[in-house]
Amino acid sequence: MRILLDTANLDSIRYFNEYYPIEGVTTNPTILAREGGSPVEMLKEIRKIIGDKKELHIQVTETEYDKIIEEAKTMVSLFGKNTFVKIPVSDVGLKATKALSDMGYGVTVTAVLTAAQAMIASCAGASYVAPYISRSENLCADGVGTVAEIATIFKSSGTKTQILAASFKTAKEVLDVAVAGCHSATIGSTIMRMLIAHTTTDTSVLGFRRDWEEAFGDKTLLGLMKG
Ligand code: E4P
Repeated sequence: MRILLDTANLDSIRYFNEYYPIEGVTTNPTILAREGGSPVEMLKEIRKIIGDKKELHIQVTETEYDKIIEEAKTMVSLFGKNTFVKIPVSDVGLKATKALSDMGYGVTVTAVLTAAQAMIASCAGASYVAPYISRSENLCADGVGTVAEIATIFKSSGTKTQILAASFKTAKEVLDVAVAGCHSATIGSTIMRMLIAHTTTDTSVLGFRRDWEEAFGDKTLLGLMKG
């Protein structure tokens, strides 16, 4: 499963872009508002950090069809061709998704809570659908099960639409959607770290160092190999 970073925090983006195999960055109006400052400058800086080839998903804030189209075109001309226009699922959103995807724009239909919404979004030509996992689970619905349903529907229809799961509150949810057949997941920095953190990994590494130093002192393998 591909991994994207769900934040607009520039320090986090610099860090995870350097160390983790992220395929891009996703934002939404709340995420941009959280950081303060100019959203346009922030998005330009994010694009600069991740480069031209990685994906940048930016959500529209317009709600009328003509304005959504104008906003989407402006976004892509400003932030580059690997910019995906996030549009919440709705009647107007579906109309805009169909028009933009027909024009060759990448659209991520977001705020998806059901497999039915995802199915219709894929018919409208969405590149991605973004099912919200923890927002679903918090309502006692089965967010992970919804991803599994979407994966089954997409596989049997042969659609090119991919699943970009979002809204995670636990690392386990990330693993569960991967098992359920999800193509991509966008994850905040806290959960991203939790995905690799393990105390037994840390104690194992300490043990390796201790055993090496007991046997070879301050010599390093690199030093020994170089003679
Ligand atoms: C993706 O960018 C979604 O908007 C985001 O993951 C939603 O996450 P939240 O439910 O934690 O706000």
